[in-house]
Amino acid sequence: MERIYVFDTTLRDGEQVPGCQLNTIEKIEVARALEELGVDIIEAGFPVSSPGDFNSVVEISKAVTWPVICALTRAVEKDIEVAAEALKYAKRKRIHTGIGTSDPHIKYKFNSNREEILERAVKAVKYARNFVDDVEFYAEDAGRTENEYLARVVQAVIDAGATVVNIPDTTGYCFPDEYGAKIKYLIDHVDMKNAILSTHCHQDLGMATANTISGIINGARQIEVTINGVGERAGNTPLEEVVMALKSHPERGFYTNINTQKIYATSRLVSNLMNMPIQPNKAIVGRNAFAHSSGIHQDGVLKNVETYEIINPQDVGIDSNSIVLTARSGRAALKNRLTMLGIKIETEELDKVYQKFLELADKKKTVTDDDILMLVGKDSRLH
Ligand code: KIV
Ligand code: ZN
Repeated sequence: MERIYVFDTTLRDGEQVPGCQLNTIEKIEVARALEELGVDIIEAGFPVSSPGDFNSVVEISKAVTWPVICALTRAVEKDIEVAAEALKYAKRKRIHTGIGTSDPHIKYKFNSNREEILERAVKAVKYARNFVDDVEFYAEDAGRTENEYLARVVQAVIDAGATVVNIPDTTGYCFPDEYGAKIKYLIDHVDMKNAILSTHCHQDLGMATANTISGIINGARQIEVTINGVGERAGNTPLEEVVMALKSHPERGFYTNINTQKIYATSRLVSNLMNMPIQPNKAIVGRNAFAHSSGIHQDGVLKNVETYEIINPQDVGIDSNSIVLTARSGRAALKNRLTMLGIKIETEELDKVYQKFLELADKKKTVTDDDILMLVGKDSRLH
């Protein structure tokens, strides 16, 4: 089994989202939850961007013991100095520096050329190595950077001392096979020394999880993710999706250090603090992720959960699946709910109650326990 390192950027890329800003106390709470969850690296912020962000990186560095604390910079000396200062209390620290490498970034953002950008990348990594031993380089918009040039940049920054090279699909543009091929190209054409490649995918076309998995299959050993997929525009790769995909497929040979039973609580914490609701059908952590509503599915799950569940809800910290009673539910689900409510019922009577249940269910979105008790003539207060 190969270890995949989990780099969480909820507090940096995730927190950039308008309306999701957290104060330092809230960030510390999230950082502690991430530590308990078992993430390997916490990207705590972009210290040069504001005094508040600087202070949060300082306080998170003090509050957290085990994960590496990482601070983001541009390929600019001042940024790197400020990041190093913000990380001074971190027990294990990393500077994450980088620059745009795609032609649109080189031309429009920097009004520069490929050779100059390569020089700036190398200079930034060398400068950061004066402050910390662990330097990660990001080739921003690597997803749209031509592979041959990208390989030159990656080789140059590794030679300059980068320990991790991040290959962001900044605009969420790549197809999974294309992103995987990019990682493979780099593995095949770069002398990696002891460095590893990292995925960092965005969700603009809904392919962030697939791209991340494709990156892993093709040789990336670190994944950059956020809780609930919060992040710029359509968001980043959701931690919970990749971690559970790897756990659900042990035959693929990858594992993480994540304590998956803490996933749901961490998801709720981030959603509440960031004021960012989770869509009901969100994979792994959405309200409906383990809810069964159609009669055929409910009947199957009541016979054996393996029929329609590939993940045990308890593995992600959810007590149990739920059978939601709707007009689509069958007799099996109704009988099961009656039994749970302590009501024994004969088949003939069940048929009658089921007819009444369907009439009610056609009028209501979901049928509650109180409704069921009313249908069988019981006083809900006694139950
Ligand atoms: O999406 C991106 O390219 C980033 C980098 C700053 C790492 O978030
Ligand atoms: Zn990003």
